[in-house]
Amino acid sequence: MAIRLGIMGTGARGSSAYGRWALEHPDRAAVAAVADPLRRRRDRLADEAGVAAAHRYPDWRDLVADAASIGLDALVIALPDRLHLDAALAAVGTGLPILLEKPAATTPEDLEALAAAARESKARIWISHVMRYQPFWRTIRAVVDSGAIGRLVTMRVEENIGFWHYAHSYVRGNWRNLATASPMVLAKTCHDLDVIRWFAGEAPASVASAGSLRYFRPEHAPEGAPDRCLDGCPAADSCPFYAPRYYVEALADTDAWPVALLGDDLTPEGRMAALREGPYGRCVFRSDNDVVDHQQTVVAFPGGLTATLSTSAFTGQNTRTVRLTGTAGEIAGNLRTGALEVDLFSPAAVLPVLTEARVVRRFARAPMGHQAVEVRSGPVDAEGEPDHRGHSGGDEALVDAFITALTAPGGDPGTSLESSLDGHRMAFAAERSRLEGRTIAWEAA
Ligand SMILES: NC(=O)c1ccc[n+]([C@@H]2O[C@H](COP(=O)([O-])OP(=O)(O)OC[C@H]3O[C@@H](n4cnc5c(N)ncnc54)[C@H](O)[C@@H]3O)[C@@H](O)[C@H]2O)c1
Repeated sequence: MAIRLGIMGTGARGSSAYGRWALEHPDRAAVAAVADPLRRRRDRLADEAGVAAAHRYPDWRDLVADAASIGLDALVIALPDRLHLDAALAAVGTGLPILLEKPAATTPEDLEALAAAARESKARIWISHVMRYQPFWRTIRAVVDSGAIGRLVTMRVEENIGFWHYAHSYVRGNWRNLATASPMVLAKTCHDLDVIRWFAGEAPASVASAGSLRYFRPEHAPEGAPDRCLDGCPAADSCPFYAPRYYVEALADTDAWPVALLGDDLTPEGRMAALREGPYGRCVFRSDNDVVDHQQTVVAFPGGLTATLSTSAFTGQNTRTVRLTGTAGEIAGNLRTGALEVDLFSPAAVLPVLTEARVVRRFARAPMGHQAVEVRSGPVDAEGEPDHRGHSGGDEALVDAFITALTAPGGDPGTSLESSLDGHRMAFAAERSRLEGRTIAWEAA
């Protein structure tokens, strides 16, 4: 029988990740109730899913209040970051399983309050840490778990945000300001810290971090730049962040993210009107942003593994890159291409059978001729190119695992709240370290 979902927040995630999954797997899940103050958004998903008018709510509180009477089986929280805690605490009170978007909470105190409430009521909460479900990371994990590269020694993760993506989300968009969102290291890279913690298999010993909002400040505005790109900016031809170039020219053929955030009218005229009046047309040097544009974090683990996470707005591509070194080998990868290279130092080393990737070639690496293997992971499109939709396969696998866990109890708890806590705590410790300019010992984090 299909699991009846109540989806709170029918924006990008609520509709495209969760609602879409249910629409595509009607035998396994159904959208039975939705909540969103924006009627058009709420109705768009509700109409497609055939949700009764009485089960379309303007606020998440109304949906939670009715959850039992309308026979929901699970709740999905895809609200803005700042609403997660209240919604999650209320959802815990229903006793229903919960799929909660990251970040689980935006402050250390809120996180611990949620963890305590969940433990007390034995609530089943999954956090939407999609990276743990991506074939890319699962393949790396399979190689590490097989022992082929020995014991992990270092892990280097790079979150290359992409200059245009950074401008969209962190200067002009929803995650630009600490008062309404959360620190970049949590909002953007709780995923990466979660993955680092997942590989480490233990809580850290210490966390140190540095970073700042270096560039997107008024003093770096081109001379004569107005508050909005369309108000006659003299740097229109040279500024990499000139908004019409993104939303009207380069992304002319899409009405999905990030263009969808402009509004409902996505005709060229509608887009221009949105840039004239809305947040996405603001000069990137004159917005109300205050989150960092680069940050680097070092995490040390008791077992000896050290991990670094480097986050930058100033990258050409929007992708994650990674390099893990082990006592018997090395793995390097790029999420965008799905490519991984595995070096195996010993002539006797064996790469495990990879269920979510294919071996492209095996070769001898100069000068010693040790084994190296090139692997491709992740979904591909009809042309055989990497398919990045749905977080490169992560969204699909995450919802699948959630629904499977509900229908086959006792299975893989996946990205449970309990298993996600340390990743969040690492983000809070990193932010504290950045602000206080010192290394944070884990016991004091
Ligand atoms: N797991 C991931 O990889 C991933 C990726 C992107 C975003 N996120 C997270 O998902 C969450 C949602 O992000 P999004 O991009 O979908 O944002 P969004 O703004 O597109 O969607 C949020 C929706 O919540 C609605 N909302 C606001 N107040 C509400 C209320 N009181 N009751 C009901 N609905 C309300 C908004 O109107 C909006 O439609 C955020 O916490 C974000 O950080 C996670």
